[in-house]
Amino acid sequence: MVNNLVDKAKKNIDFQSGEIFPPSSNYENLDQKQKRVQQTTQDIDQQLRKAAQLHRDGYLGEAKEIYVSQAERMMEVIKETSDAVEFSNAMKQQLKTTITKAEQIKNEIEGMQQKKVTVKSQPNQQIQYQPQLQPQMQQQYNPQISNDNQRKPVSVAEIVQKQIGMPDAQRREILSKLDQNMVKVIMETIIDHGPGIKWEDIEGLRDIKKAMVENIIYPQMRPDVFTGLRAPTKGILLYGPPGNGKTMIAKAVATECRSTFFSISASSLVSKWMGESEKLMRTLFSLAAIQQPSIIFIDEVDSMLTKRSSDEQEASRRLKTEFLIQLDGVGSSSSGILVIAATNRPFDLDEAALRRLTKRIYIGLPDKDARLGLINKLIKQVDTDLSVKDLDQIATASKGYSSADLTAFVKEAAMEPIRELPAGQLMKIKNASQIRKVNKRDFEKAFRLIQPSVSQQSLLEYKVWHQNNPSSM
Ligand SMILES: Nc1ncnc2c1ncn2[C@@H]1O[C@H](COP(=O)(O)OP(=O)(O)O)[C@@H](O)[C@H]1O
Ligand SMILES: [Mg+2]
Repeated sequence: MVNNLVDKAKKNIDFQSGEIFPPSSNYENLDQKQKRVQQTTQDIDQQLRKAAQLHRDGYLGEAKEIYVSQAERMMEVIKETSDAVEFSNAMKQQLKTTITKAEQIKNEIEGMQQKKVTVKSQPNQQIQYQPQLQPQMQQQYNPQISNDNQRKPVSVAEIVQKQIGMPDAQRREILSKLDQNMVKVIMETIIDHGPGIKWEDIEGLRDIKKAMVENIIYPQMRPDVFTGLRAPTKGILLYGPPGNGKTMIAKAVATECRSTFFSISASSLVSKWMGESEKLMRTLFSLAAIQQPSIIFIDEVDSMLTKRSSDEQEASRRLKTEFLIQLDGVGSSSSGILVIAATNRPFDLDEAALRRLTKRIYIGLPDKDARLGLINKLIKQVDTDLSVKDLDQIATASKGYSSADLTAFVKEAAMEPIRELPAGQLMKIKNASQIRKVNKRDFEKAFRLIQPSVSQQSLLEYKVWHQNNPSSM
């Protein structure tokens, strides 16, 4: 939903394509129009404030819905006011911000859902939302809200009992100095207890899986071999266009490796821990040191490590500085901590942060084999009427699609037979085998509906960035 909207918005902003909204009514005079636009704008502002409040209160689903609906309204206003250049440009700016917010929240929700954490919701709503871990709420924080049954909360004492790396006394001493509430929250929500995504769930990216194994799994298995010249890297940056498996790769590493895996989304760190985020960062690295070998995965790191600018907020500057200090600590000692960061926007990253993420891995669009593999894997779940040749043709024709686009595309095709059912029929059929098979025409239709989300232009930007910032390992 958000993705479609973003595409729609981009089209609207970049090309003024004009096909998105019907022409506005001719019967309205200028004055009336101005009034209506003014009213709409005021109402949008009010709704945005409401969304921001809901977001702060942790009602992520509701906040996202409002941002999405208001973005749609803004697009309408932009279209209508294209003659008032200044106004419409300001609106476009606001639209971009709104979409970014909706996307951020969407990612937060997905992150929570992947960790099976229930998302907080307002009492009379159907959708499930996540409990928000605002710093001031930690005192009353109730682990039962966010833990599913399989995940056992880990007590601080248990960590200490774990026989790893550091002598017990030293670990106990470090631990005693940390904020116990924060430790608890980290243990319960930031540590990924797996099992989640496996290597075989990830289509394609063979070389990248190999690189991850070489950099992470092997050094853990034979720390004695991987020393000196062969010492493993301490900072990995996964970058590339959205929707091609960066987050998945990190999650698979969590499942397959023996390290304690701390997973945190930078955007939620920034938004939820405002004021306390540097302390959380410090606590996180201390815990990671105690529990080594550890991996700290920071998703969407760009929202935390943007280039320094003069209008930057004091709090975010401090968080960034803290992160760099912690990274330096990791880099200089044989601490057994590896930091993996992921971003769609490497161009925005702070130079100092980049210098510390020495191994940079580009995760690009899937090639034909990977696309075919993914289509085959997805389509297996339904009855189809497709030959090997048909599938091959679909894989060829979907060049330029990201893995996430492809997933949406195959889902779209798989929905066609359901859509064709006459009203009421869906309830009457006995089982799924009574639905007609998915055929080639369904895919042709899906091709028209789902377009690639990554532009040639942005692929070029990654290429240029890659040339200017080669991996130093
Ligand atoms: N290599 C892949 N193999 C299978 N599915 C993929 C792959 N990459 C992306 N996907 C699909 O797209 C979704 C988004 O992928 P994600 O890892 O979050 O992308 P990124 O972090 O690069 O933006 C996944 O949940 C999955 O459904
Ligand atoms: Mg991601």
